[in-house]
Amino acid sequence: MNSTDFQRAKLEGRKLSMVTCYDYTFARLLAASAIDAILVGDSAAMVMHGYPNTLSAGTELMRVHTAAVARGAAGKFLVADMPFLSFRKGVAAALDAASALMTAGAHAVKLEGVDGHEDVVQRLVESGIPVMGHLGLQPQSVHACGGFRVQGRSEDSAREIARHTAALERLGAFAIVLECVPANLAREISESVRIPVIGIGAGLGCDGQILVLQDLLGMNPDFHPKFARPFLDGARCVLDALGRFDEAIKTGTFPAPEESYS
Ligand code: KIV
Repeated sequence: MNSTDFQRAKLEGRKLSMVTCYDYTFARLLAASAIDAILVGDSAAMVMHGYPNTLSAGTELMRVHTAAVARGAAGKFLVADMPFLSFRKGVAAALDAASALMTAGAHAVKLEGVDGHEDVVQRLVESGIPVMGHLGLQPQSVHACGGFRVQGRSEDSAREIARHTAALERLGAFAIVLECVPANLAREISESVRIPVIGIGAGLGCDGQILVLQDLLGMNPDFHPKFARPFLDGARCVLDALGRFDEAIKTGTFPAPEESYS
């Protein structure tokens, strides 16, 4: 899979699957899976580092996670998130951030919004860096949009998302993530462009879906937004294993003779 395969998949009516990943161990598992592509999301700040939002994922943090995933996920198409404000300080600063991610092993970058940084999107594309857009709920603007809320419910807001989608397509983006918008709007938007729209909390009408890996594995029982279906009770699996390990130590059954050196 590469950025041009994204558009081919849409043309052929094939749904695209993406998940986030932040580390080498899970990257190796994803490499062995059927998942089409991986996002090293700036959600790393929340999922891996416990911050309340994505603003703390700076370029160095994103570079380190991207490099770790790239070492484990050979053969998978890898998109990395451009950090908060890294594409709002002009083209040169954006190219520096993109360079850090691409030399760490990313094959494309993702950035939120489009108004005011059209020049950055255009220059990245002209520089041979595939760009994925991110519209709807833009977590880097969490303080401006009143929290992590569904977007596009009003006519004005829906029109803005449609306008931004068209702008990103015109500027050469190869795909767009559309986060937390009503399903009927997401379907209309997906049908309005030739590039694939990858939904998260955006219903079935998108050209593909993405979820945060830890959400789909059910690793955090305290966090279950409506759209994040857990495909595994990961937290229980981990706690069961830890419980059995603890018990084996305390009952003197671990390590067994065959797990010890003579
Ligand atoms: O950083 C992230 O995890 C994302 C997904 C929500 C698409 O951008």
